[in-house]
Amino acid sequence: MNNLFPPSEFDDWAAGYDRDALDEHGFPFDGYSTVLRTIVQLTAPRPQGSILDLGIGTGNLALLFSEKGCHVWGLDFSIEMLKLAQVKLPDANLALNDLRAALPPEFPRLYDYIVSAYTFHHFPLEEKVDLIRFLMENHLRPNCSIVIGDIAFQDAAAEGDLRRRFGGEWEQEYYWLADESLSALTAAGISAIYTQVSSCAGVFQLTKI
Ligand SMILES: C[S@@+](CC[C@H](N)C(=O)[O-])C[C@H]1O[C@@H](n2cnc3c(N)ncnc32)[C@H](O)[C@@H]1O
Repeated sequence: MNNLFPPSEFDDWAAGYDRDALDEHGFPFDGYSTVLRTIVQLTAPRPQGSILDLGIGTGNLALLFSEKGCHVWGLDFSIEMLKLAQVKLPDANLALNDLRAALPPEFPRLYDYIVSAYTFHHFPLEEKVDLIRFLMENHLRPNCSIVIGDIAFQDAAAEGDLRRRFGGEWEQEYYWLADESLSALTAAGISAIYTQVSSCAGVFQLTKI
């Protein structure tokens, strides 16, 4: 398990996070709102459905599900992010938890929808795939999907083009490369459909094969 991105970094970012993300210009938040809306569209939630948001942050994605009448459950390991999410989502069930640990005991075991935005790029590909498979096998209702929007590129060439364009703004993390990710997911028994949404972000719709 890598710990390159500790909770303290996100605590420090929490107060300024919405300003950065909702500005949407440049790297890495080009197309942020469209990414969140695409996640909702691909999930197609029904009112009263239960949703688990992984790395809920300040709650921007979960808010869209709450507006559709869903019951929101959210995890994050940054207490400062969670405090802001709770203000936006007074009825949501939130817990301070590392996504790579077991779900908190008070959380339900199964969900209709599992989603995440701008969080999985903190994990190397193998960890991403292991976590998705674990969630699919243990916490998703049958015939449901996991939808993840994140910083992602079709391949290493597309990532390289953008890295050169953004120069100094670029910070290398475990950004998704769709070509290698789709192969790794398929090999793990997960069917994945990828949609590039902006210059630096895309959405994966994931179901069990
Ligand atoms: C870039 S923010 C994205 C927040 C929100 N999902 C959004 O789209 O605006 C990443 C979030 O993931 C959380 N996070 C990162 N690694 C985590 C981990 N291992 N366990 C739990 N939360 C994590 C951070 O604390 C942060 O709130």
